[in-house]
Amino acid sequence: MKILVTGGLGYIGSHVVLSLVNNGYKVIIIDNLSNCGVSVLSKLEKLINSKLIFEKLDLSIKNQVKLFFEKYSNINGIIHFAALKSVGESVINPLKYFDNNLNSMLNIIEYMPKETPFVFSSSCTVYGTVNKQPITESTPHGIAESPYGKTKQLCEKIMEKEFHGINNFKALSLRYFNPVGAHSSGLIGENPKNIPENLIPYLTQVVIGKRDVLTIYGDDYDTKDGTCIRDYIHIMDLAEAHIKSLEYLFRIKDKNYIDYLNIGTGIGVSVLELIQTFEKATGMKVNYIIGKRRPGDIEKAYAETKKAKKIIGWESKYSLSSALNSAWNWEKKSLD
Ligand code: NAD
Ligand code: UFG
Repeated sequence: MKILVTGGLGYIGSHVVLSLVNNGYKVIIIDNLSNCGVSVLSKLEKLINSKLIFEKLDLSIKNQVKLFFEKYSNINGIIHFAALKSVGESVINPLKYFDNNLNSMLNIIEYMPKETPFVFSSSCTVYGTVNKQPITESTPHGIAESPYGKTKQLCEKIMEKEFHGINNFKALSLRYFNPVGAHSSGLIGENPKNIPENLIPYLTQVVIGKRDVLTIYGDDYDTKDGTCIRDYIHIMDLAEAHIKSLEYLFRIKDKNYIDYLNIGTGIGVSVLELIQTFEKATGMKVNYIIGKRRPGDIEKAYAETKKAKKIIGWESKYSLSSALNSAWNWEKKSLD
C-alpha cells in the first residue's frame, strides 16, 4: 500500500511517516520545505533504515500537482498535512493563507486518483469559541478566530462538496486539539523556523536558555487557576489516529463517506498545571511571568473523544508527563 503524505517533513507529518513505515506502508512525501528543513528526510531515513520517496513541490501550484499525479498514479491513500499554520501570521497576511491552504486542497482533490481514501488535518479551531465543554463533533463551525481557522473550515466545506459531487469520495477530517511532544528517539520533533508561537516549544526554549522567560497569556480567565485550558495530545498518539483512520477508510464498503473526528485526550489542562507537570516530569524549573491575555485566545477547549473510539477504535494512551518529557528530550538533543 502506497500512502501519499503531504507536508510529510513537517512536525506532525514526519511522525506519521514513521508510524506508517512501522505499520508496513510505503510512503511518498511531498513538501515544499516552507516550514521545515530537508534534514528531516535524512533523520527519518536513519530511523527507518531505508530510503524514502520525496518530491519537493508546491501543492498550491496546479501544474506541479498535475505532473505529480501523472508520475504516481498508483496511490492507495492520502494524508494531507501540508498547510501554513501560524495563527498570528494569518491575521497579518490572510491572502497568503487562503492561497496556500485552499489551493493546495483544491489541486489535490482535482488531480488525485478518484476514490482514494483521504485523511485531512483539521483543527479544533473550526469550532471557534464554544461554551459547552467537552466539545463534541456535532458542534457546528463557529466564528473563525483567524484566517488560518477559516481555511480549516473552508477545507472541510471543500471536502463536503466533493462528497456531494459526482465522484466517489471517502474521507475523514481529524480535528486535532493541541499536539505536543516528540518521537522517543529525540531525532524528530517540533522545530518552528521562527520564534515559537505555541506554548510547548516556547517553554522548552526558555528552559534550555534560548529565551529568557515564558509569558503566560493571562491569569484572569474563568478557569480553576485563571489560565486557559487546552487538551494536549501526545504526537505519537496523534500519529496512531492517522493509521487507524486510514485502516478504517480501507475497511468500509461505502464508496462515498465523510466524517469528522476530534483527536484529543478529553482532559482539560491549564497553562499553570502544564508548567507544574513539566517541572515534575523533567526536574527542570520554568521561568515564567504572568502577562496580558493574547488576543484571539479562547478560554477553554477540550475534546469529547467518544466518537473517535467508536468509529476508528482509537483513544489516547500517553500521559501529559510523558509528552512533556519527550518534548524536553527533543529540545536537549537539538543542542547536539
Ligand atoms: P508544519 O508546518 O510543521 O508542517 C506542515 C508542512 O507542510 C511543512 O513541512 C511545510 O513545509 C509544508 N507545506 C506547507 N505548504 C505547502 C505547500 N503549498 N506545498 C507543499 N508543502 C507545503 O505543521 P504541523 O504542525 O506538522 O501541522 C500539520 C497540519 O496539521 C497542518 O495542516 C496544520 O494546520 C494542522 N494542525 C496543526 C496543529 C498544531 O498545533 N501543530 C493543530 C491543528 C491542526
Ligand atoms: N500560551 C502562553 N504563552 C505562550 C504561548 C501560549 O501562555 O508563550 C498559552 C495560550 O494562551 C493558550 C495555551 O498556552 O492558552 C496554548 O497555546 P498554543 O499557542 O500552544 O495553542 P493554541 O491552543 O492557541 O492553538 C493551537 C495551534 C492552532 C490550532 C489549535 C487547536 O496554534 O493552530 O492549537 O489545534 F488551531
